[in-house]
Amino acid sequence: MEIIQDKQTLQELLEGWRHHNDHVALVPTMGNLHDGHLSLVDLAREHAERVIVTVYVNPTQFGEEEDIDEYPRTMERDTRRLKKIGADVLFAPDDDTIYPFGIEEATVVSVPGLTQNFCGASRPGHFDGVTSVIARLFALMQPDVAVFGQKDYQQQLIIRHMTEDLSLPIRIITAPTVREDDGLAKSSRNQYLSDEERTVAPKLFQVLDAIGHDLQNGKRNFEELEKRAAKELKAAGFQPEYVAVRRAQNLAPPDRDCDEIVVLAAAVLGKARLIDNVVVTI
Ligand code: PAJ
Repeated sequence: MEIIQDKQTLQELLEGWRHHNDHVALVPTMGNLHDGHLSLVDLAREHAERVIVTVYVNPTQFGEEEDIDEYPRTMERDTRRLKKIGADVLFAPDDDTIYPFGIEEATVVSVPGLTQNFCGASRPGHFDGVTSVIARLFALMQPDVAVFGQKDYQQQLIIRHMTEDLSLPIRIITAPTVREDDGLAKSSRNQYLSDEERTVAPKLFQVLDAIGHDLQNGKRNFEELEKRAAKELKAAGFQPEYVAVRRAQNLAPPDRDCDEIVVLAAAVLGKARLIDNVVVTI
């Protein structure tokens, strides 16, 4: 596995691959890799001869109240895991490589609408940072496919929207959420949970899953289901930010005969802000 930090080396390598008609898959991450991230790399491998994983803690997606310096950086361990799983390249650029004009002068790529609610409401500007960095990675690497996790449901939807809207010739693939045995979605943030909170955390998935079953059993009282779930989360010790039953395709409120539904939630537990979702066909 090659570890690359600069554009020039990356571009030379990409040219060689293209010359051999190798397809390229991109897996963007912020590092501190767990099995969820690695499942994306496995899936990427199924779609392309070459897999590039980026590890870049993107400053523009952190809010003023969020401390980017506290984001866990575990480059040695990440490198070992990526080598073992067989990624071709680990691209780990610095800020000047990604934002050559500096962050203040950086071009912003912004998707309206989809970014306003849910995680976008509590983290203003967050998704502009995500689309701005992903647009740069797409332009740099021009991959054939890019893989994102369903775990960040709103994020993958926004990236799909951007890609389609800008006619970028990149296929977006969404990988299923990897969970712990008790259902808790794997996340770097789980390490902020105390032992006691860790036993409560799977409740988030449980309440979403229960709504999924209710929907499949014919329930259509969407708002009541949302309210019941928020109440249950509160009772378990969470501070729920939102629980929402929405159309999977565009996060619009569902009508009674809409077929694909996503149930999404964010809730704070101790020091961790957890998010999760389930998608059901009704
Ligand atoms: P990060 O949080 O590092 O996540 C990188 C990718 O891994 C995202 O596509 C995310 O959805 C996916 N992922 C995280 N946990 C997962 C799990 N349990 N199962 C499956 N996939 C999972 O998301 C970001 O980084 C950044 O916003 C990024 C897209 C890299 C832009 O900076």
